[in-house]
Order: sequence, then C-alpha cells, then structure tokens
Amino acid sequence: MEWLWRSSSLRLQVTERVWMLAVVLGMLTLTSGVESRKARILDSFEYSAISCRAHSASITDFGGVGDGQTLNTKAFQAAVNKLSQYGSDGGARLFVPAGKWLTGSFNLTSHFTLYLQKDAVLLASQSGRRVLSQDVAGWPVIDPLPSYGHGRDAAGGRYISLIFGANLTDVVVTGDNGTIDGQGALWWQKFHGKKLKYTRPYLIEIMHSDYIQISNLTFVNSPSWNVHPVYSSNILIQGITILAPITSPNTDGVNPDSCTNTRIEDVYIVSGDDCIAVKSGWDKYGIAYGMPTKRLFVRRLTCISP
Ligand SMILES: *[C@@H]1O[C@H](CO)[C@@H](O)[C@H](O)[C@H]1NC(C)=O
Ligand SMILES: *[C@@H]1O[C@H](CO)[C@@H](O)[C@H](O)[C@H]1NC(C)=O
Ligand SMILES: *[C@@H]1O[C@H](CO)[C@@H](O)[C@H](O)[C@H]1NC(C)=O
Ligand SMILES: *[C@@H]1O[C@H](CO)[C@@H](O)[C@H](O)[C@H]1NC(C)=O
Repeated sequence: MEWLWRSSSLRLQVTERVWMLAVVLGMLTLTSGVESRKARILDSFEYSAISCRAHSASITDFGGVGDGQTLNTKAFQAAVNKLSQYGSDGGARLFVPAGKWLTGSFNLTSHFTLYLQKDAVLLASQSGRRVLSQDVAGWPVIDPLPSYGHGRDAAGGRYISLIFGANLTDVVVTGDNGTIDGQGALWWQKFHGKKLKYTRPYLIEIMHSDYIQISNLTFVNSPSWNVHPVYSSNILIQGITILAPITSPNTDGVNPDSCTNTRIEDVYIVSGDDCIAVKSGWDKYGIAYGMPTKRLFVRRLTCISP
C-alpha cells in the first residue's frame, strides 16, 4: 500500500471540529513534507477496474424501463444479483443508458461497476409503488449504525440508502456524468414537519467495504447526506458534482466516517449543510465504537453551503 503515508500524524479524534483541525494540520504536514512521498500518495492510487470488467449487461436486459414512471427496483436488484456470479470471473459492469430510471433502494455486490451513461438519471422513488404517492412506504428500514447508537432524525431505525453496499470489495459507481436524483423535497418537508418515523435515507452508503470508487456523477436533491462511506477503507471519490438547495436540511456532500485511506478530489458541492464532514461516529457512541477516520486526503473542492 504505497500510497499510504507512514507518519501517523493524522489520528483523528472525537469531535467534528477537532477532526477538521486535525485534517488541516495533517494536510499542512503533508504539503510541507517530503516531496517524493507526496508524489507517491497523489499518483499511486490507480484504479483500472472501469475498463477491465470481464462481463457487462444493461439494465434493459433485466426489464428496466427508463420512462420516469416504471418502478425499476426489481430490475436493478435482479441485475446485481445475476452479475454477482461473475465476482470470481473478472467482475461485471451494469450500464444504465440515457433515460429516467425510477427506482427504490437496491444493494451492490463485489467486483462490480455501476455505470450511468450520459443523460441517465436514477430517480429515487418516493414510495414502493407509485411515484406521486405522498408517503415513504417501500423504503426498507435498517438498524442504526453501531457508532451512532440511534437514528439522527428519529430514535430507532433508518431508511436504507438508495444505493447500499455492505461487506464488499472492489466496487465502482461511475458514469459519463449521469445523475442520481434523490427527489428530496418530500423528505425535507417531512423533516421540517417532524413527521419522520425513521431517519432519512442517503443516496449512497457503503459499509464495511474495501476498494470503493465513486466518480464522474452528479447527485441532486438528496433526502439527507449524499455519499456516506463508513467502516471502510481505500476509497476514491473523484469528479463528482453534488447539488441541493442551500436551504435543504442536512444535505451533506461527502461524509467519510470511521474510514481509512480516503481520497476526495475534483468535487463541486452546493448543499444545505456540510460539504465534507469528517466523522468517526456520533458522540459517546462513536467514542465507544472507537474507529477513527484516518488518512484522509481532500483536494480541489469547491464548496458552497451556509
Ligand atoms: C440490502 O441489504 C440490507 C442490509 O443487509 C438488507 O436489509 C436488505 O434486505 C437488502 N436488500 C435487498 C433487496 O436484498
Ligand atoms: C458485515 O460485516 C459486519 C462485520 O463483520 C457484520 O457485523 C455485519 O452484520 C455484516 N453486514 C451485512 C449486511 O452483511
Ligand atoms: C456534470 O453535470 C452537472 C450538472 O448538470 C454540471 O454542473 C457539471 O459541470 C457536469 N460535469 C462535467 C464534468 O461535465
Ligand atoms: C472521469 O472523467 C474524466 C474526464 O472526462 C476522465 O479522464 C476519467 O477517466 C473519468 N474517470 C473515471 C473513473 O471514469
């Protein structure tokens, strides 16, 4: 793991503000440190999985319809389940062509690339059945994170993320600047009206995973946080645009949380809350869980937020 820097100057501890300071100090140490080491860190995280998956398929092969009306949750989950069989045979790539692909949450698999082509939009469904329904039925509820103790919007469980992965390795979510649209307005209303039974979903959450790349996509109107890698390592987040109204609640851009070796670069974020928030769980739960965020590198970030 050549790209890791060896000085353990960056041990991030408990509160967000202290973390931020630690990151800044870490970055200063880095930039004023040995040039050759710096070059190694910047250049050696090469990730070639994009072009080398042995198998590929299109969401249309699984009955997907990109008309903005048809619910494609089953097509996505069927595609991932089918393509997961190639994990030990060169991996697989799922293409999503131009169109509006309404979907509920689905799970990723290892040795897998999800590729949104130009003008492909994943539209988060607001209900399990109908796009216009004013409820959030159909979003599975999962346990709170152990390092959070309970949900952030309401005690107890949380709605699973639109795109979710746990215990994976070698996963790429990318595209030719395709869009993931969380259709968050309904969720924001529920939040403001104190009508949420569970914590709002994120757009992407990856847990307990290794070698994750999220790149060349646009995320709009997330119900809450956008990109949330947690308890994971070797994460590259590159070339993404995140857009949400600056009045929208908790629409954080990228929140690396109890993660090791994360590189975030060339990102443009307009959000209603933090652009990048470095986390290691939440208060006493995070302390008890004891998994700091370590070795985080951020460069070329444009941030517009309150
Ligand atoms: C996705 O993973 C979560 C967590 O393991 C699980 O609760 C959920 O049922 C899975 N969803 C599908 C469609 O398999
Ligand atoms: C993933 O692995 C963790 C740690 O080994 C385990 O606690 C958790 O139940 C697993 N989660 C899923 C969704 O498989
Ligand atoms: C991707 O699309 C977003 C939203 O339309 C746009 O703001 C951004 O500039 C695009 N990025 C690239 C690299 O074309
Ligand atoms: C992202 O887009 C840039 C610019 O078009 C391209 O050079 C790069 O290879 C792309 N990255 C990935 C991981 O597809």
